Amino acid sequence: MPDAEVIVVSNRQPYIHELVNGRIELQIPASGLVSALEPIMRTCSGTWIAHGSGSADRETVDQHDHISVPPDKPAYTLRRVWLTDEEYKGYYYGFANEGLWPLCHIAFTRPVFRAADWECYQAVNRKFADIVLEEAKGKRPIVLVQDYHFALLPQLIRERLPEAIIITFWHIPWPNSEVFSVCPWRDQLLEGLLGSSIVGFHIQFHCNNFIDSVDRFLESRIDRETSAISHAGRTTLVHSYPISIEWPDATETQAKCNSRARIFERFGLREDMKLAVGVERLDYTKGILDRFHALDEFFHQHSDWIGRLVFVQVAAPSRDTLPAYRSLHQECLDLVADINERYGSGDYRPILLLAEHHGQGMLGELYRAADLCVVSSLHDGMNLVAKEFVAARDDEAGVLVLSTFAGASRELLEALIVNPYDPAAMGEAFFKALSMPLEEQRERMRRMREVVRSNNVFRWAGSMLVDAARLRDRERLRDS
Ligand code: G6P
Repeated sequence: MPDAEVIVVSNRQPYIHELVNGRIELQIPASGLVSALEPIMRTCSGTWIAHGSGSADRETVDQHDHISVPPDKPAYTLRRVWLTDEEYKGYYYGFANEGLWPLCHIAFTRPVFRAADWECYQAVNRKFADIVLEEAKGKRPIVLVQDYHFALLPQLIRERLPEAIIITFWHIPWPNSEVFSVCPWRDQLLEGLLGSSIVGFHIQFHCNNFIDSVDRFLESRIDRETSAISHAGRTTLVHSYPISIEWPDATETQAKCNSRARIFERFGLREDMKLAVGVERLDYTKGILDRFHALDEFFHQHSDWIGRLVFVQVAAPSRDTLPAYRSLHQECLDLVADINERYGSGDYRPILLLAEHHGQGMLGELYRAADLCVVSSLHDGMNLVAKEFVAARDDEAGVLVLSTFAGASRELLEALIVNPYDPAAMGEAFFKALSMPLEEQRERMRRMREVVRSNNVFRWAGSMLVDAARLRDRERLRDS
């Protein structure tokens, strides 16, 4: 849709300004949503509306709360939205992250639903709807609503901009209707989402769960053949669009060709050692403890590997005022100390836990240096780390161990697919990966690289826009 006005709405902003030791620093958050959408916005420009969470965010915007980004090469506008502490606590920490996040992930953490959080969630959704209205220049913008923070927003926008194309992408799984039904405000969430022209998920399984939830709780007509829901006089398509990454420029990856030497030096590893890596936010859905248990099993079964394998785990701090995240952090520290105590000796420590934020440059080097990358999510919409690892390996070496419960396992079929709840089997997958001949690594990696290269993030966004255009044409013909 050439010249269409594009507005993105998400909670997390792509650029955060923080005041650090009296100086303003620019930070890029650890968020799959941000890494996927940023290249799209750089290409098609428009406005990205998001919460201004940084301590120096207010100092860096103009009088309309706008800032042109990326700061070094402006391509689109970021509109920051200010939330009070109370709003943020109820909407983000409370309803979104203690309610919807555990509800949608099968990670066996009980969701908490508080009426006061729900009030804040509604108020913040209304606030963002006002801002979309303020930012929209015409009557028919394309609004890309992102994630579980804004389930009510599509309907709120629809009421005031009936001709808008609203594409809502739910970046996390959608549970089955029985699990979903525990949410006291399930009907309102479904009604809100059905204000969208399209509701997108990463995989068909989550689309089916969503359609089943609508079927069970709302008056609607469902056409399973075309995955269309008609409700309150309008039609919403429910489709799967597997999210991806921007395929890296060859010159960009070649510039990093001695990553292994740099990483080995940085972590003091011997030349003959093997390196396993894990990269995520410190989140209980990611199966971080489970991969450490698998490592324990692996050393137990294959003791000749003790002293020859180091696991570098990057675990960026996340949502750390919530009890579930704080206790996970402590459990990780305890388990790492225990494993390092049992299998370490001298200056050899089998696990290096880096519980801090790292930039893309360092992560790219780590991927390129690794013999093995472990993604052991207990449940995950897609997981872009798996795809980033594959994209970084232009040497076609390295093995991906991937959870069957991450959406990425539906596409990266040549990974070693594991059940993260089975530490013995995951430990054996580590053994298989570390013993895999280079030729086999290459064959697997080549196929996975082809999948990620062709199903890149532009295809993800492009297919949603093509579907939205078709829907609009169909509606126009029907109403003419
Ligand atoms: C997941 C969510 C994103 C979120 C990211 C980081 O990927 O789907 O919406 O931005 O986690 O979490 P945070 O709460 O720090 O934004």
